[in-house]
Amino acid sequence: MDRAALLGLSRLCALWAALLALFPCGAQGNWMWLGIASFGVPEKLGCANLPLNSRQKELCKRKPYLLPSIGEGARLGIQECRSQFRHERWNCLVTATAQQGTSPLFGYELSSGTKETAFIYAVMAAGLVHSVTRSCSAGNMTECSCDTTLQNGGSASEGWHWGGCSDDVQYGMWFSRKFLDFPIRNTTGKESKVLLAMNLHNNEAGRQAVAKLMSVDCRCHGVSGSCAVKTCWKTMSSFEKIGHLLKDKYENSVQISDKIKRKMRRREKDQRKIPIRKDDLLYLNKSPNYCVEDKKLGIPGTQGRECNRTSEGADGCNLLCCGRGYNTHVVRHVERCECKFIWCCYVRCRRCESMTDVHTCK
Ligand SMILES: *[C@@H]1O[C@H](CO)[C@@H](O)[C@H](O)[C@H]1NC(C)=O
Ligand SMILES: *[C@@H]1O[C@H](CO)[C@@H](O)[C@H](O)[C@H]1NC(C)=O
Ligand SMILES: *[C@@H]1O[C@H](CO)[C@@H](O)[C@H](O)[C@H]1NC(C)=O
Repeated sequence: MDRAALLGLSRLCALWAALLALFPCGAQGNWMWLGIASFGVPEKLGCANLPLNSRQKELCKRKPYLLPSIGEGARLGIQECRSQFRHERWNCLVTATAQQGTSPLFGYELSSGTKETAFIYAVMAAGLVHSVTRSCSAGNMTECSCDTTLQNGGSASEGWHWGGCSDDVQYGMWFSRKFLDFPIRNTTGKESKVLLAMNLHNNEAGRQAVAKLMSVDCRCHGVSGSCAVKTCWKTMSSFEKIGHLLKDKYENSVQISDKIKRKMRRREKDQRKIPIRKDDLLYLNKSPNYCVEDKKLGIPGTQGRECNRTSEGADGCNLLCCGRGYNTHVVRHVERCECKFIWCCYVRCRRCESMTDVHTCK
């Protein structure tokens, strides 16, 4: 396996381990992720050797065939987080030390109780739902498959019926809950208890996003495409769409009070009457501005990041560089151009050079 692939896999392991490190799980607490640098293919190592807590090991042993989906779920989540935040000051970057396996993935953001924490938990939990459900629909699992509750349903008068394979998102959600959600046991300190409750809520918000974006696909039958009869099935949205929805939730996330009574409450006193919905993302603490490097927190800052001189958005040099200004470099691009089809059968192109300005934050 090449180095990049290995790095990727060790990151996946690091991720779940890092997630777990947040939960007080008795003796297997915060240090569990430390050994992850050497992890290879998780399914080859087996459940016993992965940085899982005892509950998860038990689950893993009973369902070892789910290990590839767990890895795939983590990959989906991380990739979508990076993609959604690629233009922002916080760009969901894995810290350099996490890549070397010596610190948890995401580092500070995983336990800071900020909006970023909220997004990470939601997108990771959603990723797990998505990958497990896909695997069920692909017929890779004995205990789950397509959603069979829809069989024989539909509406003859409207000319359609359920058929094909509907994604059984309920099983994916069940597994994601089982794997990621830990009961809030008596933990030390108020802060950690609220943080746990917050993380659990955001896990569920991620799952709800997958469920909410289920859609219906249909195929027409009938004489020459007349669509007299349709077969329809339920399908999950692409994970990109789910990521978009979660990004939206992130931007409208709700700050909660650090004092937990019977349940979590909004921080803003005059808004407490507005109920917290289960698909809202919740956060506890204000985010740092992510402008300047903070080695202690593992925040890289935006120095050296590429910015867009003409954009008014988050990727614009003004916002991204936090008003520090930017440097401009000229970068030479070489590409194939003026391609012509030659009979028969190849394409001949010229090599074209172009110069573009690249701006990076000071
Ligand atoms: C199903 O299993 C096959 C063979 O192990 C694998 O190649 C494929 O990626 C799996 N599909 C999903 C969606 O997990
Ligand atoms: C912790 O939980 C256990 C079992 O639920 C309970 O018996 C015990 O009193 C709790 N301890 C504290 C300090 O809340
Ligand atoms: C920069 O921003 C402008 C305005 O939003 C956009 O049209 C352009 O495509 C962006 N350029 C790059 C290189 O992303």
